[in-house]
Amino acid sequence: MSETQSAFVTGASRGIGRAIAKLFASNGIRVTCASRTIEALDEVVSEIRESGGEAHAIRLDVSDMSDFASAVAESADKFGSVDFLVNNAGIVKDNLLLRMKENDWDTVIDINLKGCFNGIKAVTPIMMKKRSGRIINISSVSGMMGNAGQANYSAAKAGMIGLTKTTARELASRSITVNAIAPGYIATDMTSDLNDQVKEDLINHIPLGRIGTADEIAETVLFLCSAAAGYITGQTIAVNGGLYM
Ligand SMILES: NC(=O)c1ccc[n+]([C@@H]2O[C@H](COP(=O)([O-])OP(=O)(O)OC[C@H]3O[C@@H](n4cnc5c(N)ncnc54)[C@H](OP(=O)(O)O)[C@@H]3O)[C@@H](O)[C@H]2O)c1
Repeated sequence: MSETQSAFVTGASRGIGRAIAKLFASNGIRVTCASRTIEALDEVVSEIRESGGEAHAIRLDVSDMSDFASAVAESADKFGSVDFLVNNAGIVKDNLLLRMKENDWDTVIDINLKGCFNGIKAVTPIMMKKRSGRIINISSVSGMMGNAGQANYSAAKAGMIGLTKTTARELASRSITVNAIAPGYIATDMTSDLNDQVKEDLINHIPLGRIGTADEIAETVLFLCSAAAGYITGQTIAVNGGLYM
């Protein structure tokens, strides 16, 4: 492909999404960084520009379908197209099932699962017209193995795996691939609240003996967007240090 490629990354204001946006940019890919906090996105965009990359910030709540459609349209306008979509935005609202509030169920499903559906809906017409595209959905080890205290989150993350497989089948004839990545425990704000004892117990269950880094997830995303991954679709790539096999 001769023209510069462009990516749309949700949840790019911090953690894994920020690492993905920065890795894309350092590989010459133009990046739209989206999340709800424009100030944090502006910082990421400035850092990318200072290192010679091209980036653009858009305020977006992924659970709002029309918001997502407008954000993708703005990104396509700015960079000419959207070649890669990374549905990375996510939240946790953990509690045991018996204590979980209906609202905490709904919010987690709306952001993590419906947000992913909204993103795929928004980019699909652009990618279908171009007859190419890569969609990467950031699921979780919790969606593969379950996790006590995460009924809402693990259901959303397992739902993303089903959504990945179905959309991979529907979009394959247009040369669009759809894959999921299921990270294990990664050092970000999402896991920073775990106390030292919980962290130590966790590490004891991880064959590679450590928590992962956001950069390790970003590298997997970049691989799935590369020519080398052109024949991979409908898959969930586990990046979890062996926690779940
Ligand atoms: N860290 C882990 O151990 C781990 C493990 C497995 C899977 N994951 C998944 O990896 C993804 C990234 O997690 P992380 O660890 O980087 O989390 P994080 O540090 O908490 O960052 C979450 C990102 O999502 C954005 N976000 C949240 N709600 C949003 C909404 N409604 N609309 C748009 N953006 C929204 C946040 O930005 P704003 O607050 O600015 O909106 C932020 O950029 C999530 O899907 C998470 O479930 C993480």
